[in-house]
Amino acid sequence: MENSATESGAAGSAHFAHLWALDRSITFLNHGSFGACPRVVLEKQTELRARLESEPVRFFVRELPDLLEGSRAILSDFLDADPDDVAFVGNATGGVNAVLRSLRLESGDELLVSDQEYNACRNALEVKAEECGAKVVVAAIPYPLRSADQVIEGFLARVTPRTRLAMIDHVTSQTGLVLPIDRLAAELRSRGIAVLVDGAHAPGMVPLSLRRLGVDYYTGNCHKWICAPKGAAFLWVAPKHQGLVRPPVISHGWNSTRTDRSRFRLLFDWQGTWDPTAYLCVGEAIRYLGGLFPGDGRSSGRATAPSPWRRGSCSRAPWGSRRRRRRR
Ligand SMILES: Cc1ncc(COP(=O)(O)O)c(C=O)c1O
Repeated sequence: MENSATESGAAGSAHFAHLWALDRSITFLNHGSFGACPRVVLEKQTELRARLESEPVRFFVRELPDLLEGSRAILSDFLDADPDDVAFVGNATGGVNAVLRSLRLESGDELLVSDQEYNACRNALEVKAEECGAKVVVAAIPYPLRSADQVIEGFLARVTPRTRLAMIDHVTSQTGLVLPIDRLAAELRSRGIAVLVDGAHAPGMVPLSLRRLGVDYYTGNCHKWICAPKGAAFLWVAPKHQGLVRPPVISHGWNSTRTDRSRFRLLFDWQGTWDPTAYLCVGEAIRYLGGLFPGDGRSSGRATAPSPWRRGSCSRAPWGSRRRRRRR
């Protein structure tokens, strides 16, 4: 690959800098809040917008469904997920809200979250709890953290018979911890507690296998570490919950008689007229970014650490242990 990551340090960053549209007079370090998108992907988005504007009806009615499927197929492959279980959403906050607002809770039920949860998603949890007379229970994650066990102990210490759902960051926003989601989910689910993962930072940063992770709901951004255009994220929902989860906006999908795709996809794929080009560039971003890193399965270099861009790497947990393989 012409631009493969074979250089390191200042030389390496100079090699990559021109591939992004970032202002060269600044050193942009906060890709986590609002990342940047490579020029190639932005050009693809411009092309798609021109195509849309040249004949909007043809684009939305005839071309969009296939384009969406193509981008979703590449994303699902990257996430190791069944495409039927993956819906595009505008951002991880939207994914969290869709799940929380679909929950059927009773007064006195408890929603578990850590003290490091991202403020916007914590707010969504507080509002849901307030509306239902439920209670938000906060688990402490020590910082600095010595072991993954401390995270599990912190959550389990706050579980009660009323705990209905735990919302867990995959990568914490303020401290950058990669939480042991698979082990934590196994413990919580064995206690009958549903697990919603806020994976805003995980896709493109840590290897993922959603079909093996053993959680109930997982939302993640494509506009952070996958470097897709802004407004591209996904919501993965385990098949058994898909009948209950509704998007924030109800539109044509609600009474659609189509049988060629799941109701989950019908509801999420159309939430009113919008600019779908960010979703449609996710596949291109994954292809492009994957080609920049050696050891991604497509280039000839060798990666030594588990890379989200390398096929099969999701069997190695970020904590260095082997993940237990589990089937739902
Ligand atoms: C843990 C976490 N969750 C959710 C979000 C929200 O992402 P977005 O603004 O794309 O919805 C962020 C943003 O940084 C985050 O760090």
